[in-house]
Amino acid sequence: MPLAGDAGTRGALRERALPTAGPLAFTIGNWFTWTAVGIGFPGVGISLVAVARLLARGAWEAPPVLASTHIATLGWVTMTIIGAAAQMAPALLGARVRGEATLPYLYGVFTVSAALLVVGFLGGRFVLAAVGGAGVALASLWFVALMLWTARAARSRPASMPLHLPVAFVCLGLVTLWGTMLAANLSLGFWPGLLVGHRGLVVHLALGLGGWFGLMVVGTFYRLVPLIHGARVASRSRGLAVLLLAGWAIVSTFGGVAGRLDWSLRVAALSAAAALVLLAVEVGHVLQHRRSRAPDLNVRHWYAVLGYSIVLAGVAVAWSLGAVRSGPPDRLGECVAVLFLLGWVTQAVIGQLYKIAPFLMWYYRSTIPDVPAISRRPDLYSPPVGSGVFWASNTGVVLMTIGIWERAATIAEAGAVAIALSAFGLAYMLAYRWIPPVLSGRLAFEWRWRIS
Ligand code: HEM
Repeated sequence: MPLAGDAGTRGALRERALPTAGPLAFTIGNWFTWTAVGIGFPGVGISLVAVARLLARGAWEAPPVLASTHIATLGWVTMTIIGAAAQMAPALLGARVRGEATLPYLYGVFTVSAALLVVGFLGGRFVLAAVGGAGVALASLWFVALMLWTARAARSRPASMPLHLPVAFVCLGLVTLWGTMLAANLSLGFWPGLLVGHRGLVVHLALGLGGWFGLMVVGTFYRLVPLIHGARVASRSRGLAVLLLAGWAIVSTFGGVAGRLDWSLRVAALSAAAALVLLAVEVGHVLQHRRSRAPDLNVRHWYAVLGYSIVLAGVAVAWSLGAVRSGPPDRLGECVAVLFLLGWVTQAVIGQLYKIAPFLMWYYRSTIPDVPAISRRPDLYSPPVGSGVFWASNTGVVLMTIGIWERAATIAEAGAVAIALSAFGLAYMLAYRWIPPVLSGRLAFEWRWRIS
């Protein structure tokens, strides 16, 4: 009989502390999202700190600001969406991603090209930016083709892919092609009319921020949030109305730019405001009717999206009625871009990341060796660092907006620092937390040279 307190008991205790499941797996399908969270978002934070003073001075067209903007739009948000779509498409569409063997090459082309584009912008070398842009456009069109092909092959297509998503994919193709043309035009000047009154840029923003990010977030909400929270949307037709209003806002923007029609731009702002209010009402409905009341950062981040929707809708209505103006007019545009890109879009992206299984697996596998215990955690979707990320990211957006509006460089900088801290927190938690236990041998690790 073994005696209590002897080496046998110590051995049993040590055994209990050992992992009870196989190694931590890292697959090729995770590369996109890992790069976005581990490199892209911290890159946004660091570059924002570097350009906050320029933003507060209204120098939003300065090359370093362009570089920072595209780290955010391509390296952070677009890469997260591509990775998440590649990881989740099989589960959501009931079909393997068509041509998935090409995904590692797609990753290579997109990443290298986006880096070229950023380096080109940083040095004001627009030819280099256009070359990078062409690579990003190629990779984006390639990704869009794979997604639409997969959706076509899937069994339950209409239910599994809300119409917002294919329209968003088409906008991704268009915005990257148009952006490449804009960069080439900045260098070669073959279409001077596009530079008058920032007409080319306004089209780019309508396609990129409205069509690509806006519709992608709305489509993701309709596809995933009711499903993960076990609640129905109040009205399916409301989703269609959001799509039509957003589409109308984009078309009216094109009309306003092409015909120099101020009223058409006001109609665009009113349509966008109506779409945002309808979305906010639906988000509120679904969150209130969710099944579980367990702490869940996904819920918090969607409430933040709801808040930004109301604020942005209010600004759009006030602008279209002439009740809010800035001198120069760009300053209001800068504030809206910060609220939309770093607030509305980024909050939706962070919130959804907590529902992408590999991330939470990496996090909990490195903090709790007992794998079966993970799913029984009451705060499964609410790791403690996430609260800090939530508050720091939103405080940062509010401070940056105030700093730009008031031309107060120190406040804008403080906001950028808060966003950088939130990005480091998220990257530590979801992209790097597993490394110390792997290095110390507490967690076995395995590269898997397959997509998923
Ligand atoms: C192939 C990829 C892309 C290229 C080559 C590109 C190129 C450009 C260029 C040349 C400008 C400056 C235009 C001007 O000032 O007249 C610009 C501005 C901007 N782009 Fe892109 N773009 C690309 C993708 C995107 C995407 C996907 C988004 C967002 C969804 C986006 C958002 C923006 C924003 C917000 C600005 C204004 C920011 C600032 O001036 O600091 N871009 N882009």
